[in-house]
Amino acid sequence: MKKTVEFINEKTNNFKPEIGIILGSGLGELADEYCDYALPYIEIPDFIKSTVQGHKGRLVFAEIENKQVLMMQGRNHFYEGHSMQEITYPVKVMKALGVKTLILTNAAGAVNENFKPADLMLITDHINNMCSNPLIGPNDETFGERFPDMTEVYKKSLIELAEKCAETLGIDVQKGVYWANSGPSYETPAEIKMIRLLGGDAVGMSTVPEAIIANYCGLDVLGISCITNAASSATSGKLSHEEVIEAANTAKIKFKSLILEIIKNI
Ligand code: HPA
Repeated sequence: MKKTVEFINEKTNNFKPEIGIILGSGLGELADEYCDYALPYIEIPDFIKSTVQGHKGRLVFAEIENKQVLMMQGRNHFYEGHSMQEITYPVKVMKALGVKTLILTNAAGAVNENFKPADLMLITDHINNMCSNPLIGPNDETFGERFPDMTEVYKKSLIELAEKCAETLGIDVQKGVYWANSGPSYETPAEIKMIRLLGGDAVGMSTVPEAIIANYCGLDVLGISCITNAASSATSGKLSHEEVIEAANTAKIKFKSLILEIIKNI
């Protein structure tokens, strides 16, 4: 950790980010538009390479709306074969660099039948069905306690702020529970039915490990899902990664303006 943080500090002239953003599939454009300095993950000691199509794999440092922002353009996923500890390492690095607020974003399938592709959903809570947890293993007390409380992983005041920002911009947002599966296979119709019965509104393959670690180490978390598809159901036909990226492309203009408004008001 010391090596990683020293490397980043040296390369960025001690850039002190207050806001961290993890940009999900098809949502990375913000980091193309606002980039004062970029570090590919492969150059950073102990970071891992992102392999998913539509994910670039670099840390981007930028001043946005007079705030120092650190963006992850692309993330690592559990389904790539990395451990839970590996995929959440960047969140701990953000904490060590001074980040206070973390905005987690992702592409997700709709489970709630009122949601449609290109909707944005503010995550109110999550259900971890990844069958693992990034906190398994010895606990480093310098980051957080052994049994962290999880009653408000997604900070209510940030959800309210995001809702206000959306209203200012005239953007409709949904709210709901994000259900995380390990992937990489999409869900069967029977699984979607089960997720709906058990309280999930959207389903994806990321975010939850990062949210657990962020909450554990005391970061304020806001989560935004970009609904890219009706999750596999008898009526919606076959689902492909291309369809997911395409819907994220449709949503990216409102997604970007919402993120910028949130940064401005944090
Ligand atoms: N399921 C899981 N992950 C996803 C989906 C989905 O339908 N869409 C985008 N990410």
